[in-house]
Amino acid sequence: MLIRPRRLRKSPILRELVAETRLSKDMFIYPYFVVPGKNVIKGIEAMPGVSHFSVDTLIKDVEKSLKIGINKVLLFGVGEEKTDDASSSYDKHSVVANAVRELKKEFSDELYVVTDVCTCAYTTHGHCGIVQHGYVQNDQTVDVLARMALAHAEAGADMVSPSDMMDGRILGIREKLDKNNLENTAIMSYSIKFASAYYGPFREAADSAPGKGDRKAYQMDFRNPREAMRESNLDEQEGADILMVKPALAYLDVIKGLRESTNLPVACYNVSGEYSMVKAAGAKGWIDEQKVIMENMYAFNRAGASIIITYHAREIMEKGWI
Ligand code: PBG
Ligand code: ZN
Repeated sequence: MLIRPRRLRKSPILRELVAETRLSKDMFIYPYFVVPGKNVIKGIEAMPGVSHFSVDTLIKDVEKSLKIGINKVLLFGVGEEKTDDASSSYDKHSVVANAVRELKKEFSDELYVVTDVCTCAYTTHGHCGIVQHGYVQNDQTVDVLARMALAHAEAGADMVSPSDMMDGRILGIREKLDKNNLENTAIMSYSIKFASAYYGPFREAADSAPGKGDRKAYQMDFRNPREAMRESNLDEQEGADILMVKPALAYLDVIKGLRESTNLPVACYNVSGEYSMVKAAGAKGWIDEQKVIMENMYAFNRAGASIIITYHAREIMEKGWI
């Protein structure tokens, strides 16, 4: 036999030498849930290890994150006043805008702050937009999203990340930011976001489940990989800086397809349900949790994502798995 692939698997040093995929701390973005009030740290039941923080406790926790190598965070606002027009979402003093201001004051450029831009935690009905006649109104919603993105950017957000799936929202946000001299605020688009049951634990965490119906009239049908490419091409043309696939684990083919069809950075969002399943099976002792987590992280990178948004980031870095 001339060719023996096992020759290159013989020792740990050799396996490291020929590894085709490598992870680095720089690739990770860690999500945080921010709530109104003071001195709040409240665990989220279905997401062990993840909590709600008020701005004051958030600052302290982010300080810990920075020490272990997490320097990029994605903020979600929870617990604001809910109205039909989602007006609390673009308030200059929303909990997210306040958190951004305080984080930037405290950590300046040591910390890169991304904000989620969507109305579902701010509407009475829990849909990702303005509802009229039983339908999420696209263009009206884009106006609200642009105002929300502007409020976050004016507070100092480095990057805004719309997660709603309205048509034309990247252009709407880009124009709004540019008109306000915020041309350097980046946009990471949740460009391929599927209508997925994997968001279950998040909706509990963000109190953002739709009261009636589902999100299928705006989020994508998971049977449609070609439509997924169409969505992200549009976002690229509208000025998105980074494209994202969400969820991640069940959509590795889509990550790969996107990697091959764009020259923009590709991100993936390892969502709440994916996280909870691993944590639950790990707690039961049914899987080796550390090994499964890291196998998943390599899978995201191997598929083509160079940016990984994951609730596991904190543990991975705290325990020195990277
Ligand atoms: C809100 C939003 C969701 C997630 C991120 N932004 C939920 C949804 O669309 O229902 C999911 C995140 C997760 O599950 O971890 N638009
Ligand atoms: Zn939403």
